[in-house]
Amino acid sequence: MRRKLRMLPALAVIGASLALGAVAPGEEGDTGWMRTPDVVYVGTPYDVVSTMLRMAGVRKQDVVYDLGCGDGRMLVLAAQKHGCRAVGYDIDPVRVRESRENVARNGVGRLVEIIQEDIFKVDLAEATVLPIYLLPEMNRRLLPQLEKLKPGSRIVCHDYGLDGIIPDETRTVISNEDNASHILMLYTTPLRRN
Ligand SMILES: C[S@@+](CC[C@H](N)C(=O)[O-])C[C@H]1O[C@@H](n2cnc3c(N)ncnc32)[C@H](O)[C@@H]1O
Repeated sequence: MRRKLRMLPALAVIGASLALGAVAPGEEGDTGWMRTPDVVYVGTPYDVVSTMLRMAGVRKQDVVYDLGCGDGRMLVLAAQKHGCRAVGYDIDPVRVRESRENVARNGVGRLVEIIQEDIFKVDLAEATVLPIYLLPEMNRRLLPQLEKLKPGSRIVCHDYGLDGIIPDETRTVISNEDNASHILMLYTTPLRRN
């Protein structure tokens, strides 16, 4: 995303279609694919993730959900730096494996769980913090799920915010990792409409 997400949906479709096989789940040759991801994987730089978690004021009692968790970095950092539970969802079996390896490598398996699931089917009832790095239309589609979050839950969007919702804070940060600027928007539930 200098390498920006908006450039990537076509790539997402090509990449995922190539990987998808005409094999039913569980059959021989099943690669673990559920369906084409809605966006390809691009990781949020670690220093930007740290800022997102700080903006959300993550505490030990929080439960962080990363919808489209990629390599699991947001969850690993949340558990390591804030000592909280964290759950990651990704539809791509390669990302799920990478996330689980990342969790194991960093010794945070007691706090972090990774689940292969379509984020639009996830029940967010226990989540209190959601760092989000997805495309605008995905954020729009997630809004009904986000509106059901417990009061006081925090959402921090990276680069693409929630249409029609007023952020509590907007911050632009330059990452030391990619020297690019990243826009971060914090929202607290109940969400305030424009
Ligand atoms: C832009 S990456 C963000 C990764 C991570 N959250 C981060 O910021 O470092 C988006 C991720 O969403 C996943 N994804 C795309 N569509 C999905 C869907 N419908 N359900 C679950 N995961 C999805 C992709 O596989 C990819 O890993």
